Amino acid sequence: MIPFRTIRYDPDKNSIIILDQTRLPQKEVYMTLENAEDVHRATRCMNLRGAPLIGVAAAYGVAMAAKRGVANDAHKACDLLQTARPTAVNLSWALNRMRERIKDAADLFAVLLEEARKIEKEDKDACHKIGLLGASLVKNNDKIMVHCNAGALATSGIGTALGIIYTAKEQGKNFTVYSSETRPLLQGARLTSWELTRSGIETYTICDNMAATFMGEMNLVLVGADRIASNGDVANKIGTLGLAIIARYHKTPFYVAAPISTFDRKLASGEQIPIEERAEDEIRIFNDRCVVASSARVRNPSFDVTPSDLISGIVTEQCILEHPYTTSIAELS
Ligand code: MRU
Repeated sequence: MIPFRTIRYDPDKNSIIILDQTRLPQKEVYMTLENAEDVHRATRCMNLRGAPLIGVAAAYGVAMAAKRGVANDAHKACDLLQTARPTAVNLSWALNRMRERIKDAADLFAVLLEEARKIEKEDKDACHKIGLLGASLVKNNDKIMVHCNAGALATSGIGTALGIIYTAKEQGKNFTVYSSETRPLLQGARLTSWELTRSGIETYTICDNMAATFMGEMNLVLVGADRIASNGDVANKIGTLGLAIIARYHKTPFYVAAPISTFDRKLASGEQIPIEERAEDEIRIFNDRCVVASSARVRNPSFDVTPSDLISGIVTEQCILEHPYTTSIAELS
């Protein structure tokens, strides 16, 4: 169903091969990452991105670092990779799993590689199950709005929000997707439109500031998540909060799709979620041209937090969570 591979471990070279997302949609270029430093750089520079994929790549980064069988190499890799990006909790979730395995490992490299493969496989399976459960939300002839990229490019499987769309398509449903461009790095325009159209899904790209104009026509909004607090507040790509508010005005169902690795049950609410603030130049420079007066200041938070009361449901690999989220999230196994 997905005609490209976002991440692949190469056992002969002890490296991972990723699809370089900074080059899309113009070029489908693959990049080889040979060590934890490469994975760290590629994550920061967003050659790879998306919460679940960041976790899977980091796990392989730790395994690659343990090639000599030295526990300290693996610990150092964990510490470095932890600093790559702050908001997606899948990163620390995957690194904590890797750290647990360093403790008691005799054949360290084999054990860590096995754990990284397990994390990748679980991510694939979770996407598949999210797709199956969430497809029940999609009806024939729906118009569905999505934001950022929560697809195969953001995971090692079919994606979360877009996994639902691929599964509904496979079930024979017909629908149209509206993808918001997602300033400043254009994950919607560059990545979501690329992957959906390659699978034959009718997709319109709209500017972020057109969402309110089109929302009245939408039957459903589907987004991913980078971290979900125990009360159901969701951190996701900047612009998600605005969509949720507009959807509420139009009474359009607003669903989040995320694997359980995206939940941070230590946090009481979204206020405690760390929000990444990225470089000013991502906003100042557009198409290689400076588009902001040099004396003007710029803010660039990469994520926002949508309060749980604006969310109709959260599709996980176990079930579709409903209000009250404090109870339904606590009941997840
Ligand atoms: O900055 P990005 O591109 O890594 O942000 C990605 C998102 O916000 C996605 O919606 C989220 O990670 C879910 S991906 C299944």
